[in-house]
Amino acid sequence: MPYTIGLHAASTAFLSAGFATQFTVAVIVFLAIILTTSAFQKDGVDAPASLPGNSLLAITPFFRRRYDFLNWGFHATGQSIFQFQLLRNTVIVVSGESAREKFFTAKGLDLTEGFKILSGAIPMVRGVTSDLQVRRIAMIHRRLASVQKNASLTALIPHILDDSRRIMESWGTNGRFDPFDKIYELIFQITIRSLSCTEISDDPALVSRLKTLYDTLDTGTTPATVLVPWFPTPAMIKKLWATKEIYDIVVKAIDAREKSGIAQNDTLQMLLDAGDEKLIVVGFIMGLLIAGARATGTTASWLMTLIGGHPEWRAKAAVEVESLLASYSSPSSSSAPHSLASRLASIPLEAWESETPVLDSIIRETTRIAQPHTAMRRNLGPELYINNKIIPTGAYVIYPFSDVHLDPELYPDPWKFDPGRKEPVNTPFGYVGWGGGKTLCLGTRLAKVELKLVTAMFVLGFNHSIIDQAGKPSDTLPVPNWNDILLCRPPKDSFYIKYERTRVPL
Ligand code: HEM
Ligand SMILES: *[C@@H]1O[C@H](CO)[C@@H](O)[C@H](O)[C@H]1NC(C)=O
Ligand SMILES: *[C@@H]1O[C@H](CO)[C@@H](O)[C@H](O)[C@H]1NC(C)=O
Ligand SMILES: *[C@@H]1O[C@H](CO)[C@@H](O)[C@H](O)[C@H]1NC(C)=O
Repeated sequence: MPYTIGLHAASTAFLSAGFATQFTVAVIVFLAIILTTSAFQKDGVDAPASLPGNSLLAITPFFRRRYDFLNWGFHATGQSIFQFQLLRNTVIVVSGESAREKFFTAKGLDLTEGFKILSGAIPMVRGVTSDLQVRRIAMIHRRLASVQKNASLTALIPHILDDSRRIMESWGTNGRFDPFDKIYELIFQITIRSLSCTEISDDPALVSRLKTLYDTLDTGTTPATVLVPWFPTPAMIKKLWATKEIYDIVVKAIDAREKSGIAQNDTLQMLLDAGDEKLIVVGFIMGLLIAGARATGTTASWLMTLIGGHPEWRAKAAVEVESLLASYSSPSSSSAPHSLASRLASIPLEAWESETPVLDSIIRETTRIAQPHTAMRRNLGPELYINNKIIPTGAYVIYPFSDVHLDPELYPDPWKFDPGRKEPVNTPFGYVGWGGGKTLCLGTRLAKVELKLVTAMFVLGFNHSIIDQAGKPSDTLPVPNWNDILLCRPPKDSFYIKYERTRVPL
């Protein structure tokens, strides 16, 4: 998903020397690239089939209507593997079981390099991965593992619940909202809470500013900003400004903490105590925030939408959380009833992780059906074969998750939300919602805990359902739009979540 990319792109963005761009040079190089792409290619017998038509015509649909474009490519070539050009880059799209297995396990296929060119949420100026950067990224990953150790994750739970309570209270006793605004906002808040520091996460105005800046990075992604990131288009300049402002906000928080000399119990403190250089700290917060908030926000927005449209699953989730409360939360003896947030906080991490089969299957089904990810790699060499087709060194290889997650052989009636469906057995990588093989999501533990806590608060604190634009109960439920590579979001205003507080005090 475009978010996972963030980490690497973000690190690259500010780990590289600076943002200087030279307009004249840019124009000349741009023209040179346009010219070289039209140079004719000689394809050997074992080269994947090429898309018909002028290669420049592939650029816009690849970014704007990716799901349709890739399906069209398989159809137009009649092959399970095809290639096309993105300017001077060869991109090979693969599908099918054996290709998938190879894709996720082949040694030379590199995620960082693949995302760098093909995603581009954050502007990059210099595109060379140095050893130093690789080491810094590895360090950031190590710190992310620390945040998810039992003790740290346990300490985060009450904070996540508190944030959820505060934001859910602001929704009032009833109303309607677009989950891609409100649920997304909530996830953004708790992800900032989990990955940064109290100075930022206790300041709603600052959090909201950051969200706006991250949205600028997302929506400002145009084909040009990805393919020719050094080219100073207006979109790119806006993104550079946004990146710089995010950078300044994070650095200011670090400086304030260091100056105050007062330790806080949060992720920033962990990073500072570990003695990391400032670039690692900034890279951690900036990069993981974009990786974490977007993926988790999309999943949570869809999760609430899907269970809103499937009341039987909503009810099962509520029953599951109630039974956890019954086992772990001591009934309030005083006259003042305990808040839902504080009762949920007494459920131990282990229970959230291993005693929630219903929530687990809802999360799994949501990530199957509404996560429009296209995994991207670059072949760092040597050349390799996938399904007897050659993948040259330096080529980009991509695998659309729709190939497996929407395959009717593995998932009959694939668009149907059915957390009770049977998991495919004896199929390698039959579900890759959290990655597979060499690349597994490094934030899975945090993301799942966030999703479970927010869902628990929502299903017990509210009841909700899906309505259409006119406010009537919707007869057709929203369908994930895989052409939207960020949120899988259906047309704006095509539906809302209608909600009503229950009697349970948040
Ligand atoms: C619902 C939420 C999330 C989902 C569904 C998700 C899914 C994924 C998937 C499928 C990949 C592999 C991508 C590929 O193979 O191309 C991945 C990688 C990654 N994810 Fe997540 N993710 C989520 C949340 C998070 C969070 C919260 C963080 C960090 C705090 C995170 C950090 C990462 C990182 C760093 C990688 C790259 C791993 C590498 O370089 O090998 N993710 N994620
Ligand atoms: C601070 O965080 C650590 C885990 O990182 C936890 O073990 C400890 O109990 C926390 N202390 C307080 C006062 O919350
Ligand atoms: C951490 O929590 C997991 C489950 O939540 C448990 O299986 C594991 O044993 C715990 N590790 C330690 C060191 O307590
Ligand atoms: C909440 O539940 C009540 C009773 O079951 C129902 O009358 C009401 O319409 C529901 N509200 C929403 C927003 O679904």
